[in-house]
Amino acid sequence: MTPTEMTAEELAPRTEDEVRAHLAAGKLVEGLPHMSPEYLKGIRRILTVSADTELVSAPAYLRAAQHAPALNNFGSAISICQDELAHAHIGYRLLGDLGVDMPRLIYEREPAAFKYPYAFDVPLDSWHELVMANTLYDQAGFVLLSDVHRSSTFGPWKRALAKVDKEETFHLRHGRTWVKKLCADPEEKRRIQAAADWMFILTLEWFGLPDERKRHGIQLEYGFKGLSNDELRQEWMAAVVPFMDEVGIDVPAHHDAEAGRYVIDCPFPARFDSEEKRWRLEDGAITWDEVMTRWKGRGPMNEEYVARLQKGYKGRKRNVARRSEPTGTA
Ligand SMILES: [Fe+2]
Ligand SMILES: [Fe+2]
Repeated sequence: MTPTEMTAEELAPRTEDEVRAHLAAGKLVEGLPHMSPEYLKGIRRILTVSADTELVSAPAYLRAAQHAPALNNFGSAISICQDELAHAHIGYRLLGDLGVDMPRLIYEREPAAFKYPYAFDVPLDSWHELVMANTLYDQAGFVLLSDVHRSSTFGPWKRALAKVDKEETFHLRHGRTWVKKLCADPEEKRRIQAAADWMFILTLEWFGLPDERKRHGIQLEYGFKGLSNDELRQEWMAAVVPFMDEVGIDVPAHHDAEAGRYVIDCPFPARFDSEEKRWRLEDGAITWDEVMTRWKGRGPMNEEYVARLQKGYKGRKRNVARRSEPTGTA
């Protein structure tokens, strides 16, 4: 029997009460022998989302890297892609330790079954959009992973994230340095503003359903995350909005000193035209159900990016199959 054929109940021997007692004693979970079925299912889910997000960011950033203004800038963008692949590898490797069939998960899954945020399904078509992605998307990744790094009760992931956090800091700095530099020129600034116009709201969505719609129960109890979706969204705005103010880029959010929190200044959630890369804010706010329908349908780049990631594996598999076919008898 291969590990994938085993159920969570067979792989994770502890009861939920035993896991709670283990965590209450301040201990980390180090592997399957410390897990209950619920813990295993929960950690697999969050690791898959994280690894898928890291993995797809590589072809997304690679597509935009071709617009690098000079060869050394292209090199920086490629090194970011390389970091993202290594981050994805950490997640998938841990999933492998947790009984998941890695090749099947990475290379044989349908594109629509990948679990990364919708934002990556929208193409990055310029250097301006790439550096805005480093500023907004990598900040979102940083906020989410720092929360996992602080709160995670799964020891192997917690330790691995120390390296990931440092590299994400480099991606962020890459984005911010470029945004600042480009904003010094009025024409470049106009293009940076245009990138922010569609990308800022997509990143607001990244953090998922608002707290009143989403119960985190086990995710918080088992320490898969420490903060709720709305708290994470606030943390992201607290990092991004002051920077945008500093460089003079308008974003639809501001700090409300009286309420002590960031407030979104546009209809949210909203309808998005993925072909034009434009928010149809004139339609007003929509429901989260409509947003989830868009997410589930995936966006324009989903199939192309996944096909690109799976191409080498599938090609090799075809070659192996061809070689093992009987040769002609003539
Ligand atoms: Fe990453
Ligand atoms: Fe990154």
